[in-house]
Amino acid sequence: MGLYTFAGPIMRLLEPETAHGLAIKALKCGLLPKAKPLNEPVLASTLWGLNFVNPIGLAAGFDKNGEVPDAMLTQGFGFSEVGSVTPQPQPGNPKPRSFRLLEDKAIINRMGFNNDGLDVVTERLSARARKGIVGANLGKNKNQEDAVADYVAGTKALAGLSDYLVINVSSPNTPGLRALQNKDQLAELLHAVLVARNETVEKGKAPLLLKVAPDLTDEDKTDIVAVAIETGIDGMIVSNTTIERPDSLKSEHKGEGGGLSGQPLFEASSLVLREIATQVDGRFPLIGVGGISNADQAYEKIRNGASLVQLYSALIYGGFELVSEINKGLAERLKADGFKNISEAVGANL
Ligand SMILES: Cc1cc2nc3c(=O)[nH]c(=O)nc-3n(C[C@H](O)[C@H](O)[C@H](O)COP(=O)(O)O)c2cc1C
Repeated sequence: MGLYTFAGPIMRLLEPETAHGLAIKALKCGLLPKAKPLNEPVLASTLWGLNFVNPIGLAAGFDKNGEVPDAMLTQGFGFSEVGSVTPQPQPGNPKPRSFRLLEDKAIINRMGFNNDGLDVVTERLSARARKGIVGANLGKNKNQEDAVADYVAGTKALAGLSDYLVINVSSPNTPGLRALQNKDQLAELLHAVLVARNETVEKGKAPLLLKVAPDLTDEDKTDIVAVAIETGIDGMIVSNTTIERPDSLKSEHKGEGGGLSGQPLFEASSLVLREIATQVDGRFPLIGVGGISNADQAYEKIRNGASLVQLYSALIYGGFELVSEINKGLAERLKADGFKNISEAVGANL
């Protein structure tokens, strides 16, 4: 039994943000046992010129301030994502703003991009040895009217310090943010950040990914994929949290405002992934996120078109041991189905 499993029940007695703060502190101080190194070539792949030792990544929102990207890699993740970071530091929404839906194995959050801002995160990432793969997820400040300016600022600051960049236009907790997924606004935004990226780093560095919401109409999805292909971005992350509330939810917190993640998001986000993967048709890689808590679910995302996957909510219920468990289970499933490498399984269901 690892420390996190042992501490898990105690952690769950604490208010979610207090528990999260403690987990970050423990990681910073190196108090958590490291995951055993996993030697499974079947899980390794190269995307955007980056060598991923395994496909399981830490989703954005856990390490918003870039305090523990490398510590998370020692927990068994193949890559970790810092952010969302906004140019100026901001406090986010009033507390409480994060809720555990225990019976549903879900989380509702309306954090509102609480973060230390670009200067501090830039300093932290500059101090890294840059051994593992760490992405930077960019957001915009609540009071900034010129959204493009914020994403351009984030791109210029972090393109040279991270292995990939994410344009997050899909968090439900910043007013107007999701409207940036509309065709014309999205095209303008992506053109501008690509120019900024190309001016900041040499060709082929800092691949630019777009993170989308699961709550999209068919027309939205078609438009977004068309803009992604036309602008020449390098990938997409599908998906962020949902503003929908499935009838199946049981927890007393189900009526809280914000984005829902965890188990109840799995089906919906997998469906959007599948639809987007079909339209993208291999032109660029996709990262599948939403409700992954075991190897079967990670495998399903991969078979539905994801080259890599990420998770966050399941850590709150399963602890960090889950990462190695999922990797092991995934390797077993790939081999049992006759795949020599994970890349062969990507999109197998499509
Ligand atoms: C407390 C919390 C904070 C989050 N913050 C961010 C964020 O800042 N930026 C972002 O792109 N996604 C954020 N997310 C969304 C996750 O990255 C992920 O897309 C979503 O939770 C679905 O994955 P999961 O079901 O494995 O949690 C957050 C999620 C949670 C639970």
